[in-house]
Amino acid sequence: MVRQAYFEEHGGLDVIGIGEAAVPEPQPGQVLIEVVAAGINRPDCLQRQGVYPPPPGESDIPGLEIAGRVVAHGAGVSMPRIGAEVCALVGSGGYAEYAVAHASLCLPVPENMGVVEAAGLPETYLTVFDNVFTRGRLAPGEILLVHGGSSGIGSTAIQLAKQFGALVIVTAGSSAKCAFCKTLGADFAIDYKRQRPRLWRSWLSRRALICFGCRTGVHGPGRKAPSLRWARYRWM
Ligand SMILES: NC(=O)c1ccc[n+]([C@@H]2O[C@H](COP(=O)([O-])OP(=O)(O)OC[C@H]3O[C@@H](n4cnc5c(N)ncnc54)[C@H](OP(=O)(O)O)[C@@H]3O)[C@@H](O)[C@H]2O)c1
Repeated sequence: MVRQAYFEEHGGLDVIGIGEAAVPEPQPGQVLIEVVAAGINRPDCLQRQGVYPPPPGESDIPGLEIAGRVVAHGAGVSMPRIGAEVCALVGSGGYAEYAVAHASLCLPVPENMGVVEAAGLPETYLTVFDNVFTRGRLAPGEILLVHGGSSGIGSTAIQLAKQFGALVIVTAGSSAKCAFCKTLGADFAIDYKRQRPRLWRSWLSRRALICFGCRTGVHGPGRKAPSLRWARYRWM
């Protein structure tokens, strides 16, 4: 049997329960992972509150990213090998002692990182990389505007964009959040609750940039600004 967290009903932290279920069977193309740690993301909290159901075909057990050791293969899988330490994206079921993941959605735990820390990698790093670099084509020297800079997604976007040589401007909801963003490398931080958009949106809209974040289009320059490319993801 495997212990797993579940939501008894929708609501606050008090609805989280611990139950037992059979160890999941890895299907063709999947691996079974003995979970060491699971990442906690805003979508999990929204699922608990009843406003973000799991994708069709997924279980109600929360948890979208995990790290641990591969302990079994489904048909057709040889990599990652049994015993390998991996982190992985899962559609559900991460808050459990064992979880299945598609082999192609497993990444090796980086050498300079512990397996617990690696559980926080896949969701935000893959989301940011896909939106900002693959779709948004952010190039060195360009400006990235990140709304919600102190969020999980935003803080990842700041760090990746700085590594790739971009100039990073963030908006965030307090001076403390702005200060935090700067410790992550943000070049400029705008407290959107105190600095009204008209003071900075025209400056931004004259420059080539990618606009990214959970509040995209709310606080930023108008969507019709000619120089903008937009990298958006789902905001619940
Ligand atoms: N985490 C992931 O891996 C992931 C992946 C794909 C999509 N998403 C989506 O991306 C969005 C952000 O996720 P996240 O994990 O980055 O979230 P998070 O770390 O919880 O941050 C959410 C941010 O939204 C702002 N906010 C505005 N109104 C809010 C409210 N009523 N309650 C809470 N926060 C509020 C806050 O920033 P300010 O105070 O600065 O406004 C807060 O920092 C969510 O819609 C999520 O579904 C997340």
